[in-house]
Formats: sequence, C-alpha cells, structure tokens
Amino acid sequence: MGETLTAKRILLIVGGGIAAYKALDLIRRLRERGASVRAVMTAAAQQFVTPLSVGALTADHVFTDLFDRQDEQDVGHIRLARDTDLIVVAPATADLMAKLANGHANDLASAVLLATDKPVLMAPAMNPRMWTHPATRRNRATLEKDGVHFVGPGKGEMAERGEAGEGRMAEPLEIVAAVEALLGGGEKPLAGRRIIVTSGPTHEPIDPVRYIANRSSGKQGHAIAAALAKLGADVRLVSGPVTIADPVGVATTHVETARQMQAAVEALLPADAAVFVAAVADWRTAAESGEKIKKVAGEGPPALQMVENPDILAGVGHHAKRPALVVGFAAETQSILKNAEAKLKKKGADFIVANDVSQGSGIGEAGVMGGDRNRVRIVSKSGIEEWPEMGKDEVAARLAALIAEKLKTVAVWSEPDGGRSVPPRQFRRGER
Ligand SMILES: Cc1cc2nc3c(=O)[nH]c(=O)nc-3n(C[C@H](O)[C@H](O)[C@H](O)COP(=O)(O)O)c2cc1C
Repeated sequence: MGETLTAKRILLIVGGGIAAYKALDLIRRLRERGASVRAVMTAAAQQFVTPLSVGALTADHVFTDLFDRQDEQDVGHIRLARDTDLIVVAPATADLMAKLANGHANDLASAVLLATDKPVLMAPAMNPRMWTHPATRRNRATLEKDGVHFVGPGKGEMAERGEAGEGRMAEPLEIVAAVEALLGGGEKPLAGRRIIVTSGPTHEPIDPVRYIANRSSGKQGHAIAAALAKLGADVRLVSGPVTIADPVGVATTHVETARQMQAAVEALLPADAAVFVAAVADWRTAAESGEKIKKVAGEGPPALQMVENPDILAGVGHHAKRPALVVGFAAETQSILKNAEAKLKKKGADFIVANDVSQGSGIGEAGVMGGDRNRVRIVSKSGIEEWPEMGKDEVAARLAALIAEKLKTVAVWSEPDGGRSVPPRQFRRGER
C-alpha cells in the first residue's frame, strides 16, 4: 500500500446507522494512505459510536453541532464544507440522502453538504427495504443527477437477524478505492483508452427458479476494472451476477447469461483492450423450461441436455474489430500452464493470466474463487512470468500497469462519434 492520498483532506460525515462502526476502520485506512481526516458526526451517529473514538482516530476535533459557538468561531460550517478535497458520507443514512436530495440544512451534516463546493461521495447503508423504497430510489436518482458519487451498497446479511438483501455498506477498502479514484492524482497512462472488462460468473437458467452457476465472486475482475480506471482508462465493465458493488467511475452493464455477456461485449466494440476475467459457464441447458420442473415420485431426476455456450474470448480474439490487446483468464485446477498455453493459441489472445483455483492451491483461507488473494502466471508468446501470491487488488494494479505498458506503442482506436455515448444496459431474465 502506497501513500496514495498524501496531503489530501477528507471530511468524513458519519451518519446514524449500525455501519457507523466501520467508519472507524475507514478513518484508519484513509490516514494510512496519507490523507488527513476531519469528522462530522450526526446526533444519531453518536448513538452508535462515540466522538471520543472518532476523534482518537482522526487525531482532530470532532464536529457535532451546527450551533456550537466555539466551533462556529474557530472553523465555521462554511469553512468545514470548503477546506477539504472531498466529503465522504459513511454510512450515508436514508435520512441524510433524503435531506441532501431535498436541500435540507437543519443540522451540521446537512448544512455542510449543502454549503460545499467540493465533490461528495456517499456510501449508503440501510435496511434493504429502506434502500429499495421508491422514496430512497428517487433521492438517489436526484443526488446522482446533482453530481453526488456513490459507492455501494452491496448485498448480504444485515445486522438485523434474518434480513438480507441490498443495503450493506461498502467495505472500508472499497470506499478507499472510490476515494482514490476520485482524488487520485498520479499518472494517467491510459487516458483516452477504452477498455472492456468482464467479471463474475454467469447464471444459466434451467427453469424459472433454478440455474447453473459457479463460485466466481467478481472480486478480481472488478478490481481490475477499478485499477484500469485509476490509470485514466474509460472502462466498460460487463458483470455477471455478483454481490459486490460496481466500481466507482466505471460504466457497468449487468448480465446474467453467457449469451447476454457476449452481446454486451460485442456492443462495446471497438475498444483499445479487452480483459476477460469472468468465469463464463461453458455450457447451458439446451432449452430453459418455462415452468418449474416438478419432482415426480418414481420418475427419477430429469436428464438435462447441455449445449455449449459461445466462447466470448475467442470471439473477440478473432473479431473484425479485435482490440489491439486481448487478455484472457484461465482458471484451472490441473495442468495449469499447459492449458493456458493452449488457450493462448486457440483464443487469439495476447496473454493469458493463469490461476490455480483448485481447493489445494494453498492460497488464502477461501482459495482463489471467492477469496481475496491470488497467485497468477502471465503466459504470452514471449514466455511465462510468475507473480508471487498477493491480494487481488495488487494483482489488478500490476496487470493494469502491464496493460498500460503494452498499449504505449499502440495507436488509439477512433470512431466518428467516439462510440462513447453507449449507456450501460441492464439485461433482464429471459432477454437474450
Ligand atoms: C438500531 C438502529 C439502527 C439503524 N440503522 C440505520 C441504518 O443502517 N441506515 C439508516 O439509514 N438508518 C438507520 N437507522 C435510523 C436512523 O438512525 C435515523 O433515521 C436517524 O434519524 C438518522 O439520522 P442521521 O441521518 O442524522 O444520522 C437506525 C436506527 C436504529 C435505532
């Protein structure tokens, strides 16, 4: 981890939700990267964590009251709102979103949010019903239109027993990545380059309730999309069904099946590079049953007839609009290198990132699929490069740097309208 946020000033607004405890870790992570963090806490936030803990971590005074005479004299809410590079709201409650969307300013947090001229990043956290309520959806759309950035929420178990769904606050490191994407100065060697990335698994329906899937979490693909965006690329991510948040600053198209993923990728061509990280199902059922297949006593299990899915990597590797650089991933459990070399030739890829996804790979506790660590080998015509085991974010950063290096000598593709106005698309069940 480098000092990616050196000298950056961040104003963190902590809202009143259970996820407020994660704000403590967020402060630590931001400061580790060189940022200075000042905190504002709502009255509700102080029911969950104390200003003492927050202040101990920011090593600064914590601001809690719009009408505190001393604070108003020393700093003042307007200066608080302006003397910063970015305002992060974590957790962003339904209430804080509603207030900003409607221009309320009746406490310090909302007054600062209204008075600022700096970018605002919100990390919402709330019960799934609150998140999907039409009022919250409206507020989010309004805030997005007003230029507020969002990270998360993701899906998962809620703090309340038995509640699960969308509404879990993004993890502190995901918020840090979003902050870096917004503030990251640094070099932008991929500025002006369009790069397609696929990520996650695909789901191949059997009937309206069952599908064939795999264990891909999307963590590696999403990390690569974020790392490429950080280097300035115009990244178009095509993601299968995952429970992690879309990377900030990356136009993401959500798909379910391999055929939808292929259509989405082809619609995004031409591009300068394409990185195929998704674990695309090799097969699907020959015909999806329109009705739930019933279990009939004495008849035994149904025979599922399978057909091959399109090979998206090979399709793009041999496409008339083939990007200058095509990168594939090979998740294998045996003969990893032999398979990667064969894949390189067959698929028309420039290099294959081979990883061992076998149970006994010894990588992290969770293994590569679903885990946070990876050990890869880069197989290309010029040989094999072995990278040591590292976090998926680091694999992503190194791969992004490698792609930037390879594209240095390649001219940027061009189209009359730049082809860049294609909005991300959502595919629905049954749509092919
Ligand atoms: C135990 C408990 C947990 C809560 N968790 C959340 C939450 O995760 N997200 C949310 O939007 N509101 C949550 N609320 C409701 C907020 O605390 C409430 O709307 C409050 O007015 C928010 O104030 P603030 O936006 O000024 O921080 C929770 C309330 C309680 C009592």
